[in-house]
Amino acid sequence: MKIVLASSNKGKLKELKELMDDFEVYSYGELIEPFEIVEDASTFKGNALLKARAVYDALNDKDAIVLSDDSGISVEALGGEPGVFSARYAGAGATSEENLQKLIENLKKLGLKSSPAYYTAALAIIYKGREQSVHGWMHGSVIDEKRGNNGFGYDPIFVPLGYDKTLGELSESIKKELSHRSKALRLAKILLKGLNK
Ligand code: IMP
Repeated sequence: MKIVLASSNKGKLKELKELMDDFEVYSYGELIEPFEIVEDASTFKGNALLKARAVYDALNDKDAIVLSDDSGISVEALGGEPGVFSARYAGAGATSEENLQKLIENLKKLGLKSSPAYYTAALAIIYKGREQSVHGWMHGSVIDEKRGNNGFGYDPIFVPLGYDKTLGELSESIKKELSHRSKALRLAKILLKGLNK
């Protein structure tokens, strides 16, 4: 079963490919020229569907199974920000470092050293024009300083519930066990395995 990932985010692709080593997986950029996909939905699920549809249509392959991931972090003290704007919190084209620094600055402006927060991943699957989606979450807190270099995005400031280290410091295998993405993928794999039945 060949699955095409509708993403060009290196961090996500690395994690998705590792978590899906029981499938034949390609990023869409390995098959066609990557293109810009406007993610203007108000929910993670809406944006995941926009990405999956755009890649499904562009591939023009009736047998393609497309899987997309829209994800982000929601911080309680910031009223749920950055949420669906996680990739562009510090503005369009912002780097992960700029986004993370903006989050730290906003925590500091509130006089906080940490806040409860959670990651969400919405995964959408399109096969033969049929759309399905699943979600996964990881709860914990964000802190006002970077620690460690593992993972990507906001991981150096995210401490999972039950741990006292950030995902930047914890091993990749712990993130694989706990993450929003791996939880959503467990559900997505059930859907994928049922596609041909
Ligand atoms: P998008 O889904 O491509 O719109 O972007 C998701 C953004 O959320 C990423 O660019 C990261 O900033 C953040 N994000 C999503 N998942 C993770 C994760 O597992 N670790 C760290 N940051 C993440």
